[in-house]
Amino acid sequence: MTNQNGGPQAILKIDQAVRRFGGLIAVNQVSFEALNGQVTGLIGPNGAGKSTMFDLITGVRPLTSGEIYFRGQRVTDAPPHTRSPMGMARTFQIVRLFHGMTVLENVLLGLHPKFPDGIIRSLLASRALAAQERAARERAMELLEFVGLANRAADLIAHLTLGQLRLVDIARALASDPALLMMDEPAAGLNDAETRNLLEMIMTLKNRGLAMLVVEHDIDFIMTACDRIVVMDRGAKIADGTPESVRNDENVIAAYIGRKAAHATH
Ligand SMILES: Nc1ncnc2c1ncn2[C@@H]1O[C@H](COP(=O)(O)OP(=O)(O)OP(=O)(O)O)[C@@H](O)[C@H]1O
Ligand SMILES: [Mg+2]
Repeated sequence: MTNQNGGPQAILKIDQAVRRFGGLIAVNQVSFEALNGQVTGLIGPNGAGKSTMFDLITGVRPLTSGEIYFRGQRVTDAPPHTRSPMGMARTFQIVRLFHGMTVLENVLLGLHPKFPDGIIRSLLASRALAAQERAARERAMELLEFVGLANRAADLIAHLTLGQLRLVDIARALASDPALLMMDEPAAGLNDAETRNLLEMIMTLKNRGLAMLVVEHDIDFIMTACDRIVVMDRGAKIADGTPESVRNDENVIAAYIGRKAAHATH
C-alpha cells in the first residue's frame, strides 16, 4: 500500500482529463491523485466541473481526452458497470433512490455488484435463495446501523428527510464494499448535528482504511475531513495540497471571492 518513498499509493489517478460539452470545457486538463487511506477533497465554486469529474471517474460520461487509472488499471474507456465491481462507489449531489421502495430495499440494491446477476431482483421479490437473502439483509442492516437508520429500514424512502436520504445513499454506496467512496456534496442540506455525525462517519470509514473523494461546499467540513484538497475553478485545477496550503492559496481565495463578488452584483 506504499510507494518507493514510503507514502501511500494512488488508488485513483487522473491524467490530463478533458471533458467538453459542445463549446464549453467543463473539465480542462485536470490531473490529480486520490491516495489509499486518505480523504481527498475536491472543491471549487459552482460550475467548476466537480460533478462532471465524478461522472468521468465513474464512466457515466466519456472523457474528451486524458486518462483515468483506478487501482493501477487503466479505466479510461471501461464501461460504468465494470467500475463498481472494481471497487468504486459514489453518492449523488441530488440523491437518486427508489422512492416507492423501502430504505432496506434501496440498500439491498447497492449490494448488487457483490451478488450474481438477478439475485437482488429475486431477493426483492422475496422468493427462494433463502441463505443469500439472509446474508444480504444482514449486511444491509449492518450498513443501516452504521449510518444510524436501522430503525427506519422498513420505511418508504418517500417518508425520509433529506439528511436521512443522504445517509441511505451512503449505506447503498458502502454496500458494494468499495475501495474508493466518492461523495458529491454529502453535507448539502444537513443541519449542524447531522453534519457532525457525517464527519464522524467519514473518520470511522477512514480509520477502517477506506479511501474517499469528497466534493463539498462546506469549507469547515472539508478542512476537517480531508488529508488533501484539490481545487477546481471553471474546469481547471488551480490548487492541490494540504488543507492549510489550500486555505492560504492566493488563486483559491481569488476564485472564491471573485465568484462571491459576481453573485453579489446579481
Ligand atoms: N450535461 C451537460 N451539458 C452541458 N453542460 C454541462 C452538462 N453538465 C455540466 N455542464 C456544465 O459543465 C460545467 C461544470 O458543471 P458541474 O456540474 O461539473 O459543476 P460543479 O463543480 O459540480 O458545480 P456545483 O458546485 O454547482 O455542483 C458547468 O458550466 C455546467 O453548466
Ligand atoms: Mg456538482
